[in-house]
Amino acid sequence: MPTANPPIVDTLRAELALLRSLDRDQARTMPPAFYTSADFHEIEKEELFRSEWICLGHVGEVPDNGDYFTTELVGEQLIVGRDHKGEVQVLSNVCRHRGNLVAEGRGNKRSFVCGYHAWTYDLDGTLKTAPLMKDVKAFDRKKCNLPQMKCEVWSNFIFVNLDGTAKPLAPQLAKLDAILHNYHNEERNLLFSDETVWNTNWKNLTENFMEGYHLFATHPTTLQPMTPTQLCRKVPGEDRWTAYRSYYDPNYPPRGPFHEDMTEDEQRNSVLFNIFPSFVVAVAANYTLYLCLRPAAADKVAIRWGVAGFKTDPEDPEVVKYVDLCKAFNDEDRQKLETLQRAQNTRYYAHGPLAPDDLEGTIWDFLQFMAGRLG
Ligand code: FES
Ligand SMILES: [Fe+2]
Repeated sequence: MPTANPPIVDTLRAELALLRSLDRDQARTMPPAFYTSADFHEIEKEELFRSEWICLGHVGEVPDNGDYFTTELVGEQLIVGRDHKGEVQVLSNVCRHRGNLVAEGRGNKRSFVCGYHAWTYDLDGTLKTAPLMKDVKAFDRKKCNLPQMKCEVWSNFIFVNLDGTAKPLAPQLAKLDAILHNYHNEERNLLFSDETVWNTNWKNLTENFMEGYHLFATHPTTLQPMTPTQLCRKVPGEDRWTAYRSYYDPNYPPRGPFHEDMTEDEQRNSVLFNIFPSFVVAVAANYTLYLCLRPAAADKVAIRWGVAGFKTDPEDPEVVKYVDLCKAFNDEDRQKLETLQRAQNTRYYAHGPLAPDDLEGTIWDFLQFMAGRLG
């Protein structure tokens, strides 16, 4: 018999369903429990993060055959690596013997050797050797490969779908591809990457990254002089994504060198997009900043982020300056999102109105996605 949902989950599902019926001019935020409830967080893990495409990182983190890094998504331990054929693979990082971790951290290997009893797996997960097991009747080598997760690389980003039910990703992003085409993200090299954890719900950060309303107040000296709130323009989104363009202040120096395909208009704006649920990216004329978000708890988000560009040298002073700028405005966002999380533990707030479409229309699109999946 199915177990009943905790009351807060039913309340939030009902609220999401209600959002579906509201017009854009009635757009409003969700109640704070949407961002604080551990019960709702469990539902998201099960119904979103296992069944959707989730970005785990950039192909530049595994440039050579044998390169790998380990990560975790809703409790699943994963190895993201490049096999002997050069294919990107996402494997379960749980040994098929007694279930220990097979790999830790990152590096380059010819095979993965579980440190517990030395079962050895090929880079595609195939079991190669299991010491002293050959006389064991119940041991069937073919049944002991590390499970391969469904994985897709789109525009240099590595996505996984844990339960294997998601429809192919790339066709769902065709229109976004067209918008990004002249920026040539696929030609940009990974120049910086890092991991961190912020004390805020993953949706707070997703929404924050995607709205230009806060730029003038939260980033008065870092972003507002470059991409002012007043010049944000919403892009019509689709089922799987939302986006806006943030235009550069006419007084700000040109952000080249520009790819030769870029139009004059494209040279003057960055495209910020969210591939639902939790992958947010800013493709500027010169650099790409991306954040892969994985929920760590109702009030914690694990962030794997990086910067890519046409330059090749991570030590190039211009690259270092841009990465420092990203660190500075990320820190400004972190402070606001951690106080937001504390404030959301309240009984005295229910809803707020969303700002006009160019400023917070992306949040409305995101909430509509959430409503479609969980409402
Ligand atoms: S748990 Fe991995 S070899 Fe035993
Ligand atoms: Fe921000």
